[in-house]
Amino acid sequence: MIYYFSGSGNSRHVARLIARESGQKLFSLNKFFKDNCCFQKGRELIECSQPLPLPDDKDEVLVFVHPTYAWRQPRLLTSFLAASVRQLKQRQLYFVATAGSGFGGSEKYLRRLCRDLGATYMGLATILMPENYTAMFAIPDEAEAKRLIKAGEVKAKNAAAAIRAGSPLLPDPALCKRSFLLSTVVNPIFYKFLVKSRAFYADDRCSSCRVCELICPLNCIVMAENESGALRPQWTDNCTHCMACINHCPTKAIEYGTASRNKRRYFI
Ligand SMILES: Cc1cc2nc3c(=O)[nH]c(=O)nc-3n(C[C@H](O)[C@H](O)[C@H](O)COP(=O)(O)O)c2cc1C
Ligand code: SF4
Ligand code: SF4
Repeated sequence: MIYYFSGSGNSRHVARLIARESGQKLFSLNKFFKDNCCFQKGRELIECSQPLPLPDDKDEVLVFVHPTYAWRQPRLLTSFLAASVRQLKQRQLYFVATAGSGFGGSEKYLRRLCRDLGATYMGLATILMPENYTAMFAIPDEAEAKRLIKAGEVKAKNAAAAIRAGSPLLPDPALCKRSFLLSTVVNPIFYKFLVKSRAFYADDRCSSCRVCELICPLNCIVMAENESGALRPQWTDNCTHCMACINHCPTKAIEYGTASRNKRRYFI
């Protein structure tokens, strides 16, 4: 089974390819989280109304495809997996991470997660895809995004072949540099000070279409009337900065303070 979590679609795209190439089923954690789970501040799982659905065959490998947030697996996913110990114990887990530029020490934390779960760590594939962090970094132009996606697809197919063969996945060491500084030191600072929803707002281009509300995997967005009676999104504090809302808004009405202004929006 191929599970994915994805903000702008990079990890979903990679997951779809791997599912197709390896003949395995695809499972959206975005939908599962939206329908069943409650997180605190977009990172710690509080409760889930259902356990993670698993394939019937206990020997079938489980593959988790996800973006990289501050040089590690997104916290909400780690928190969810750590709480799924009854489902994941003794299972074989593969990880496929996408990122805009680097993965730092992601692998160390995935190995630790598997050890704590009593699961078998089968490896990590590191796949560069277009940067999607509209609230923080530059977004590549269309030509560069296309080039990155093509290269990412080749890596995804290689990962699928390894998974099919039951071989380990190996991260690219050139993309896993400065691991202690980035993943151990900077990651907690990033979550503490930067992962906030306060700077999000929708400007006059908003057409009240509700796409942002529907697409948010954490139900962080609620629609409410403004002073003029128009329906506008409002952000609660349960945001994980996945960037789905800002990148998918059809009228590009969503901004993150001044950081996102005049930046290209990206999703696949
Ligand atoms: C909150 C956040 C943090 C990110 N941190 C990193 C990072 O540490 N290293 C990196 O190379 N890319 C980083 N990125 C870029 C994404 O990992 C990358 O674009 C990924 O492919 C997005 O996948 P998705 O579309 O499936 O969400 C970050 C993006 C976001 C939104
Ligand atoms: S997706 Fe954009 S246009 Fe639609 S409700 Fe949200 S902010 Fe408004
Ligand atoms: S509010 Fe936007 S950025 Fe935050 S979790 Fe929801 S979709 Fe992602």
